[in-house]
Amino acid sequence: MTQGRATQPAPAREGRPLLNRRLAAFGTTIFAEMSALAVRTGSINLGQGFPDADGPEEIREAAVRALRAGHGNQYPPGPGVPELRAAVAAHQERFYGLSWSPETEVLVTTGATEAIAASLLALLEPGDEVIAFEPYYDSYAACIAMAGARRVPLTLRAPGFRPDLDELRSLITPRTRLLLLNTPHNPTGAVLTPDELAGIAALAVEHDLLVVTDEVYEHLVFTGAHHPIAALPGMRGRTVSISSSGKTFSYTGWKVGWVTGDAPLVAAVRSAKQYLTFVSGGPFQYAIAEALALPDTFFAGFRADMLRKRDLLAEGLRAAGFRVYEPQGTYFITTDIAPLGEKDAYAFCRALPERCGVAAVPNSVFYDDPEAGRSQVRFTFCKKDEVLEEAVERLGGLG
Ligand SMILES: Cc1ncc(COP(=O)(O)O)c(C=O)c1O
Repeated sequence: MTQGRATQPAPAREGRPLLNRRLAAFGTTIFAEMSALAVRTGSINLGQGFPDADGPEEIREAAVRALRAGHGNQYPPGPGVPELRAAVAAHQERFYGLSWSPETEVLVTTGATEAIAASLLALLEPGDEVIAFEPYYDSYAACIAMAGARRVPLTLRAPGFRPDLDELRSLITPRTRLLLLNTPHNPTGAVLTPDELAGIAALAVEHDLLVVTDEVYEHLVFTGAHHPIAALPGMRGRTVSISSSGKTFSYTGWKVGWVTGDAPLVAAVRSAKQYLTFVSGGPFQYAIAEALALPDTFFAGFRADMLRKRDLLAEGLRAAGFRVYEPQGTYFITTDIAPLGEKDAYAFCRALPERCGVAAVPNSVFYDDPEAGRSQVRFTFCKKDEVLEEAVERLGGLG
């Protein structure tokens, strides 16, 4: 699930807000609002990024087998069950040629969400600056705030949503501690190129910065390929890489994620993680260990299926009058509503369920710069074909 920036004021008690000031901006999310609207109006919810069909049957069966066999029904080991740690390491070796020790360089987390929180809470001091692409996946903003650090946005601008490396250089100050990357990028669908990654890595090395990279959509790249920045020269000792089973295997509710990195970095993240959840999802960890070992045909088939869905929704959105920024990766499409004579994505998304029975999300809430995303609306395509077809038909009646 994705959280949105607060749109409602937080409740107070005897004059003092209940929610502390670090989190004041994150009270109630846009997603709660849009999903409630979708339910109330019986709309198709293309706002939230979760599949409406479960992943591979044999992986679900593997979880059932683990439960029945009593594998993981009691607290699993803090870093994750050895089978999953070995499977994560083998997956990184198989797809990227990266070699990590399952004992010291892999940490299993409660989804990528906990991995992000633990990494930022572990690595940041109050007052540190974190440069992150905006629009943000907004648990980033909340976790940076919880760590008492300051977020510094590098704005990705339509139509290409490419990072401007000169601008990135200009944002680095003596207080900059960390670059927070996300490729493939939610919500824009941008995938960092080898040149961009090399440029970012060179800046990280030059300024001795840490990098936390969120790669949960690593198997959803339609244009180019996924390249982990951890593989670049000088990056291994400064990069925490994050991924998750939720997106790749379509079991988002299981919340099995992981961190890979050099042993001292993983040890630091583990220190924070052990006081967040300590451990979670024992039997699911065994099932995801099997999922990561699925043959290449599974990963290729999943990508091909999502590419077809992307094209189905993109074509429908274009036909309905949206400007479509075709994503290179992820299962989201960012659109611009200006050609429909609309200016304000937030107002548009509030009205959309009533107007045509489809819910979407305004990208504007993922930017600090309100102008940059003012007329951008995000739709997800990780839904059944018939659901997408129905949504497209409804959207076609907008004009
Ligand atoms: C960019 C990004 N990172 C992390 C997550 C969360 O992943 P998980 O469900 O594994 O916590 C999401 C989910 O939408 C996401 O889009």
